[in-house]
Amino acid sequence: MKLNMRFRLKKGVYAFTFLFAILALILSILTLSRFYPHSSLFTTTISEDQTQDATKIIDNILDKIITELKNMGKDEEKHTAFLTEILFQLGSLRISVLNIKSQKESLSVSGSGSRSAHPLSRSGESYNEAMEFFLIEEIRKYVKLKPNRLGKQNFMGANGTFTSIGHACFSMKEELEEYMDYDVGDFCKDDWKVAQKLMVHGCDPLPRRRCFARSPKLYTKPSPINESIWKLPEDHNVRWSHYRCKSFACLARNATGKGFFKCSDCFNLTHHEKPRWMQVVYFDPSTNSTPDFLIEDVLKIKPGEIRIGLDFSAGTGTFAARLREFNVSIVTATINLGAPFSEMIALRGLLPLYLTINQRLPFFDNTLDIIHSTRFLDGWIDFILLDFVLYDWDRVLRPGGLLWIDSFFCAKDDLEDYLEAFRMLRYKKHKWVVVPKLDKDGSEVFFSAVLEKPPRPF
Ligand SMILES: *[C@@H]1O[C@H](CO)[C@@H](O)[C@H](O)[C@H]1NC(C)=O
Ligand SMILES: *[C@@H]1O[C@H](CO)[C@@H](O)[C@H](O)[C@H]1NC(C)=O
Ligand SMILES: *[C@@H]1O[C@H](CO)[C@@H](O)[C@H](O)[C@H]1NC(C)=O
Ligand SMILES: *[C@@H]1O[C@H](CO)[C@@H](O)[C@H](O)[C@H]1NC(C)=O
Ligand SMILES: *[C@@H]1O[C@H](CO)[C@@H](O)[C@H](O)[C@H]1NC(C)=O
Repeated sequence: MKLNMRFRLKKGVYAFTFLFAILALILSILTLSRFYPHSSLFTTTISEDQTQDATKIIDNILDKIITELKNMGKDEEKHTAFLTEILFQLGSLRISVLNIKSQKESLSVSGSGSRSAHPLSRSGESYNEAMEFFLIEEIRKYVKLKPNRLGKQNFMGANGTFTSIGHACFSMKEELEEYMDYDVGDFCKDDWKVAQKLMVHGCDPLPRRRCFARSPKLYTKPSPINESIWKLPEDHNVRWSHYRCKSFACLARNATGKGFFKCSDCFNLTHHEKPRWMQVVYFDPSTNSTPDFLIEDVLKIKPGEIRIGLDFSAGTGTFAARLREFNVSIVTATINLGAPFSEMIALRGLLPLYLTINQRLPFFDNTLDIIHSTRFLDGWIDFILLDFVLYDWDRVLRPGGLLWIDSFFCAKDDLEDYLEAFRMLRYKKHKWVVVPKLDKDGSEVFFSAVLEKPPRPF
């Protein structure tokens, strides 16, 4: 009897160890599933079948324990209580597993849209990959294909709406999920910088959000246009969070070095910005040449023809400000790198276009009269990317439109390759100069050109 009991006890110990191992395993899977309920990791860890297997295993264990309990005498109360506890835990585990199963089922039902293919897809592949990838409900709602009501075609000839996000959003899952984690109808977090980081790294377009962007604490009406263009704006019309400077005066004070290095002077409207494109600012006496063309001279190439255009530069909108005086409307593409460029341009009464280099320009083919670019592509840009950018600029320029490459700089050794990229356009050369750049021991050069897009009839 004693021997028998000892043997049973020993058996019990084995059983406990075994049970604990299984418990630990199941618990860890469950914990994992709580945190990543729809992650691919989890779905590969436990498939539908495996969920069934798991419940089966638990059922088996339950049966065994119940048998064991029946076999054990009443004098083993301590162990009995312990076993009962485990029994209880396993029971709730079983319920959890079943819960997950039904959750998964309801997910694939609510995601029945997720099975739907894009109407123009030839392969019939699921359109809603993005929806299955992200966990935050708002992203899923955003990217899900939205059929028109009553299955109607809309005036654009589509029977649904296909909101999209940049494919690099998938590589920045955590950041995007954090960005999209808000309460609908509430204030958004003060996270414009996260948004910009996502965009710059290719999560572009970003999903829209259904929360209210914060405004500055005390927004007062902007200055009238006859004053705003050449005046530093009111500081309180900008949210300064996430900037090192907290005022425009700070940005304009060159010595602080707190602004954006590529634009260390461009908030100093009175001294630095005023003369640009109205007089020569950079002059190389050794070659008796300058990369600075004057607006007046460029517009003279096409008198009265230049009316609308794009400035793709790092700056505060001064090019647009000057061209406005010549009755030319310029949109200034910018992002807020180290300073509130968008707000600055807008508060000056000019039109900022919040746009990264990743995006196809939001203009139709053959529409703009002029594209100007300075301090933007200089020297760092990949040749293939430059090609895509230039073809895109070419696309939106109208025949006879002007491309003004302004003080593009690069290493001397790269110059020929870059020039080749510009030559590829086969534009008429109105101006074309290469000027040594003095500050880098002559190892760098400036390149400026004004080029005219030829007509391309077919
Ligand atoms: C949209 O139209 C296509 C055919 O034009 C059809 O195959 C598809 O099911 C329609 N989608 C919806 C959501 O109505
Ligand atoms: C700007 O225009 C307003 C009226 O539109 C005028 O009252 C004001 O004096 C002008 N300011 C300047 C600096 O010309
Ligand atoms: C702009 O630069 C000039 C010359 O460097 C300086 O005297 C002036 O104070 C600057 N303006 C501002 C607003 O800091
Ligand atoms: C502003 O600073 C930059 C470098 O930080 C310098 O090259 C430039 O000359 C300075 N401009 C003025 C007006 O002091
Ligand atoms: C711009 O347009 C205004 C009003 O039409 C006109 O008075 C002015 O002379 C124009 N300026 C230039 C530089 O053409």
